[in-house]
Amino acid sequence: MWLQSTFGLSATGREDELSKEGIEDCVSGKPASRENLYSAVRQCQQGNCAIQRAGKPCGSRKTASSFSKKGGVMNGSRKKEIVATLDLGTSKVVVLIAEVGEDGVSVLGIGRAETDGLRRGVVISIGKAVEAILKAKHDAEQMSGYLVREVIAGVGGTHIVGVNNHGMITTKMGEIRVADVERVLEAASMVPMQMDRSIVNCLPVQYLVDEHEGIRDPVGMSGVRLEAYTHLITGARTAIENVLKCAERSGLRVVEFVANPLASALAVLEPNEMEIGVCCLDLGAGTADLTIWTQGSLLHTCVLGAGGQVITSDISTGLRTPLACAEELKIKQGVALGRLVPDGDTIEVPAVGGRPNKKLSRHALTEIIEPRVAEIFGLVRREILKTGYGDLLAGGVVLTGGSAQMPGMAELGDVALNLPVRIGLPKNVKGLPSLLQDPALSVAYGLAVYAGLPYNAAIPNSMLPVRRLNKPKGILQFLRRVAAVLF
Ligand SMILES: Nc1ncnc2c1ncn2[C@@H]1O[C@H](COP(=O)(O)OP(=O)(O)OP(=O)(O)O)[C@@H](O)[C@H]1O
Ligand SMILES: [Mg+2]
Repeated sequence: MWLQSTFGLSATGREDELSKEGIEDCVSGKPASRENLYSAVRQCQQGNCAIQRAGKPCGSRKTASSFSKKGGVMNGSRKKEIVATLDLGTSKVVVLIAEVGEDGVSVLGIGRAETDGLRRGVVISIGKAVEAILKAKHDAEQMSGYLVREVIAGVGGTHIVGVNNHGMITTKMGEIRVADVERVLEAASMVPMQMDRSIVNCLPVQYLVDEHEGIRDPVGMSGVRLEAYTHLITGARTAIENVLKCAERSGLRVVEFVANPLASALAVLEPNEMEIGVCCLDLGAGTADLTIWTQGSLLHTCVLGAGGQVITSDISTGLRTPLACAEELKIKQGVALGRLVPDGDTIEVPAVGGRPNKKLSRHALTEIIEPRVAEIFGLVRREILKTGYGDLLAGGVVLTGGSAQMPGMAELGDVALNLPVRIGLPKNVKGLPSLLQDPALSVAYGLAVYAGLPYNAAIPNSMLPVRRLNKPKGILQFLRRVAAVLF
């Protein structure tokens, strides 16, 4: 029940009620104007001592209420907030602490721990995942000097699917107000879904006012009929709940969930690429996360169940070497495109069962890697063609995720995808930029970029992702507490 209100959409407008409750609660009991909705909800979430510095609470209610829309100053001093993000990947867990504000994202600390508690982006061992979270959290805290209590968590796995939706309302006053935008977004979030699925993120795509299309900021316009197109990213409820469990058992409260494909796109894509059409592909260990953007909006999201682990497993089988040695060979000697390997290069392959190591041509390694990577790109190409957006991708493909680090990936991608491919690293990083020059950190960094979107003056409020309020209130909170005591 709690999850339904947390992630699902309420036909009764319950979420709207929750939001308003939260805002009134936070801003010293004064009802906040509806114009402050998007940012105020987030600041309310931040208001419960999300992070402490040197053991002292810094995300206090007072601090939270000092923000206003777009991070503008109400008390004349603050235009920033500190956020922590959690990326539960198939091969590693990352906790990142950053300051977000009008100046962008400044990373303060990062912790990373390897794990085998997930398969294809989905938790399969809570104990192992928690162990890795605690280590990553500890390292991030040490580096930044902040203690983490709350996180924005990424959700990955092949259960993540994007759907496009449409909603329509008629305005009462003839002029479109913020309340109308909220109503139409709610209408455009109503989508028939199986009971075991939830909406993770809701992104406005465009508005139509009296059938005039392509409107990004309808507030203040004259019009009777307001329509909204949205992109809804949905996921399996149990998989999301398991991320929540891992976080809570690590002493972390999740203030918001963001789908991993969206986070990595926000980390690496340039606004002009999103405008002319681009596909972001995050090739991780267990999954390939794909998003397609045109005219600045997200139009397609999906996750394929293929990543670097299948390449490692192919090498292990093909060269008859243990998985750990195959992984090391792939990282140190692997090249995605055979013609980039100089003739005469050799590799030493550790054998199993006490047999002597083998010396092979490096081409033997590439002959295993290249067909598998080409096959993964083939799946991606098929997915792009299936969407019908293939001709709209003037910006080509931006490849990120740990597996993007293999030499030759962009060159092979150019041919296999029939689109120009570039490697995407976290962009505009302030603070610890050298540590962030790693495509495997795109999701953790992108979650912080997501948190900073309300501060970005270039994005009108009506185009911001609709905040999903995860904090249960009133009877829901009571029921949750009872459940926590009983179970
Ligand atoms: N230099 C390299 N060459 C080839 N592959 C690499 C290199 N460095 C890392 N990888 C691969 O990147 C993968 C890890 O990437 P990443 O950290 O993005 O995945 P993840 O977030 O843990 O998993 P997922 O996103 O699929 O859930 C591993 O399979 C690893 O072998
Ligand atoms: Mg990942």
